[in-house]
Amino acid sequence: MKIAVLPGDGIGPEIVAQAVKILHALRSDGLKIELEQAHIGGAAYDAAGDPLPDATLKLAQQSDAVLLGAVGGYQYDTLPRAMRPEQGLLRIRKGLGLFANLRPAMVYPELVHASSLKPELVSGLDVMILRELTGDIYFGQPRGMRKLENGERQGFDTMLYSESEIRRVAHVGFQIAMKRAGLNGMAKVCSVDKANVLDTSMLWREIVTEVGSEYPQVVLSHMYVDNAAMQLVRAPKQFDVIVTGNIFGDILSDEASMLTGSIGMLPSASLDANNKGLYEPCHGSAPDIAGKNIANPLATILSVAMMMRYTFTREDVAQRIEAAVRTTLQRGLRTADIVEAGMKTIGTDMMGDAVVQAL
Ligand code: IPM
Ligand code: MG
Repeated sequence: MKIAVLPGDGIGPEIVAQAVKILHALRSDGLKIELEQAHIGGAAYDAAGDPLPDATLKLAQQSDAVLLGAVGGYQYDTLPRAMRPEQGLLRIRKGLGLFANLRPAMVYPELVHASSLKPELVSGLDVMILRELTGDIYFGQPRGMRKLENGERQGFDTMLYSESEIRRVAHVGFQIAMKRAGLNGMAKVCSVDKANVLDTSMLWREIVTEVGSEYPQVVLSHMYVDNAAMQLVRAPKQFDVIVTGNIFGDILSDEASMLTGSIGMLPSASLDANNKGLYEPCHGSAPDIAGKNIANPLATILSVAMMMRYTFTREDVAQRIEAAVRTTLQRGLRTADIVEAGMKTIGTDMMGDAVVQAL
């Protein structure tokens, strides 16, 4: 298992260090794991003048999987767009063809009360958000800033999806739903769009429906994104797999993360057509708490579990890591973002050690 490790910025290095402890523990247990570290984001801009240096992309291409922390920081906010840390992330996703982004929002029984929603709304929740990751308004051309005749500036971006881009992510969605149905009963996909307003979405809905006819066992529904945002906090358990475009998925996955108690709990997998993947927590670099040893490393550790599941098809190892996280939570150990009365607040590194111990 050749894994590229890209800690990035902010809390990235701290949380990735904990996930690396897990990988080391698995290696001493006999897994053949090889790690190599490189820069991305602001750290790469500082070191090499580019948020995604060629050497980093090459390492990622030559690896089986990539473990990434987070990118971004206040000091880079005024850089031209091409040099900003976020571009490093977008370019590596695009460069590796990682079009399918899996963001599972699962509520651990131990954290039901950490959610900002009522326990009965979220207890037992298990939603998979599948976000298309290499298209949409994130990458559409033309985009930019232009001067109007009256002298004022206008910013513009282009939302677009081609049929093949929609089709391939839709297939992934239906296949995931069928696999999950084995565990949860009925296979359900809810496709989220804005087909009442956007042409991009009209095509999205048409193609998803067409692909859906190849999966008669899966119940397909469609929902407008504004309604989906509302339903996610009104009755989140109605969803199983949500499949949606890049920007809607970006927004809805942050919303879904809070159902689980903290965005610090949400892992993600970004896969190409051959299940090669990049694994990262859904949260950002959180520069306000960077270097303080208080960030929650569990989303990153759970991303390693996803890596074992999807890229290395080691479901057994994935479940071992997930069980270790649960055991740690059952012991009452919490980082500050998920702490409750009567629990023990511990730092980032102690949380990493506790999961290693449970493993
Ligand atoms: C995410 C993040 C990124 C995105 C940013 C950092 C570019 O918000 O992974 O959800 O918008 O995709
Ligand atoms: Mg986001």
